[in-house]
Amino acid sequence: MALLEIHTFPDSILRQKTDPVTIFDQELEKTAQSMLETMYFSGGIGLAAIQAGILKKIIVIDLKSGEEDTRLREPHVFINPEILEASGKAVSEEGCLSVIEFRAEVNRAKTITIEYQDITGNAQKLEAEDMMSICLQHEIDHLNGILFIDHLPLLKQKMVKKRLTKLANDEA
Ligand code: CO
Repeated sequence: MALLEIHTFPDSILRQKTDPVTIFDQELEKTAQSMLETMYFSGGIGLAAIQAGILKKIIVIDLKSGEEDTRLREPHVFINPEILEASGKAVSEEGCLSVIEFRAEVNRAKTITIEYQDITGNAQKLEAEDMMSICLQHEIDHLNGILFIDHLPLLKQKMVKKRLTKLANDEA
């Protein structure tokens, strides 16, 4: 299983548009599998395909990603997810595999209802709350070229982006 390379801010690929998945074949399964492996390897709980430079509406999530016992893992794959409803408020600290060494509190909806397709192309509906809801909102943002740091208050956002850009330039 090949690990995917994760693009990090300010890489412009993270701002691209993503296309819906229309073909549900073995290739898609392989991509989702590689995304999950990459997410586990990197210690994240969610990953969007765009972070690996794949401009498709594919998300993987596993809130149990950090479990030492891999049998406790709960991998989820969401294809072409769309938020139908959002309600309530939830604030929690977020991080992102594409935003190195930075975490911050972000305002999200507490509960969302999404429709999506599973790996075989079947239409599904899910009501999610708390962590699952927050994680889905974060990953669906990625599919629209949005990063969690875009939700920060403007002044803080500018400061953080400047610092992260400098950090990336220094490393290059
Ligand atoms: Co992210």
